[in-house]
Amino acid sequence: MANQHASSILENLASTGNAYVHGQPGSRENLIELSRQLIASLEIPSEFLQRSFWAEPAMSAHLRLAVDLNILGLLRDAGPDGLDPEALAEKIGVQASLFKRLMRHLVAMHVLTYSDGKIHATTLSNGLAAEDYQRSIMFCYDVTRPSFNNFPDHFKRVGFVEPTTTNDGPFNDAFSTPLPFFDWLNANPPNIQNFASFMASYRAGKPNWFDEGFYPVKERLIEGFDASIGSALLVDVGGGRGHDMAMFAAEHKGHPGDIVLQDQEAVIGEIQDKKSQPFIATAHDFYTPQPVIGARAYSLHSILHDWDDEHGSRILENLKPALKPGYSRVLLNEIVLSEEEPTLAATSMDMMMLGHLNVRERTEAHWRTIIEGAGLRVINIYRYPGSAESLIEAELAEAVAAPKI
Ligand SMILES: C[S@@+](CC[C@H](N)C(=O)[O-])C[C@H]1O[C@@H](n2cnc3c(N)ncnc32)[C@H](O)[C@@H]1O
Repeated sequence: MANQHASSILENLASTGNAYVHGQPGSRENLIELSRQLIASLEIPSEFLQRSFWAEPAMSAHLRLAVDLNILGLLRDAGPDGLDPEALAEKIGVQASLFKRLMRHLVAMHVLTYSDGKIHATTLSNGLAAEDYQRSIMFCYDVTRPSFNNFPDHFKRVGFVEPTTTNDGPFNDAFSTPLPFFDWLNANPPNIQNFASFMASYRAGKPNWFDEGFYPVKERLIEGFDASIGSALLVDVGGGRGHDMAMFAAEHKGHPGDIVLQDQEAVIGEIQDKKSQPFIATAHDFYTPQPVIGARAYSLHSILHDWDDEHGSRILENLKPALKPGYSRVLLNEIVLSEEEPTLAATSMDMMMLGHLNVRERTEAHWRTIIEGAGLRVINIYRYPGSAESLIEAELAEAVAAPKI
């Protein structure tokens, strides 16, 4: 007899499917989440074990092996006709019988398809065949997987407590290294390049805080912009090579004021043809006082999540002297963890942080503590359907306490 829980998820799936057909934001992510709920409600424990401890690890291992042999690229290039598995196995130097077994598992996992005696690419496998995703597979398999595998031993060894330094976590045990994560990536090429590819692909296809319906850019930033207070509309602090600001400028054509991008010297130096960019790119260390005074807003995308509370507070403290009371806004584009309904996107990022960097994703209460502790006040938190990241809008807490600008 069908279980009640599964039946109600199925009803929900039908209505969410309808929303998806009509292009409702967040409906795609909801469908994925409901499908996971459905599986969790239907699977018996042995099926759960077989899927999560055998099928999924084997799938990721096969995909890692496929990177070295360019299997997904070859299948993509073959187009809809697909490839004969025996011919492909011979071409890449893999025993045909072994190759067919490995590929059969990828078919079972819906990464590839098989028909008319040929293996065929899918939309998913073609996406994964792109260079950034191939490098992301290498990063996830070579670096993060050993760290996650090491959670039980590491936490047992340290007495089941969170790491207190940046070089004594599951990652350090897994790689027998005293180096902090980024130092190790830099010292062990091509891991830092693979990580950069992972970061680029992580953002692709996800909503931006300045998209229509997320944060009301027009009402909160553009209206009320006053060039006599400061010439900048928006300063992106730690904005990398400017991917967010390039998209902001494209989406909000005709915006008033300047857009300023700040990052470390080495990152800013990598930007090609700075003059043709829709932003002013400058080197700035966010542990020093903010030099752009009286901007309408300062955005920090995934900046504070890289740091512990003490460092996060210092970054905010260094912004404060530049803020015009009642005018300048601080926009923190970050994951806000929900205790009641944690999403896989949010908790898996938190596990990544726990395993590798000794930092954490924060709940709303935790964010309020760090923001208010730095003398700012949360005005509002904007969420967007299907987005793991929210936009926390803050400003100086006490106008009188702010220095004159
Ligand atoms: C997680 S990345 C986020 C990049 C971008 N905001 C995004 O969301 O894609 C963190 C950024 O902080 C920059 N960063 C690290 N330390 C910095 C410092 N002391 N001053 C300025 N930028 C820094 C890094 O170079 C990197 O671009």
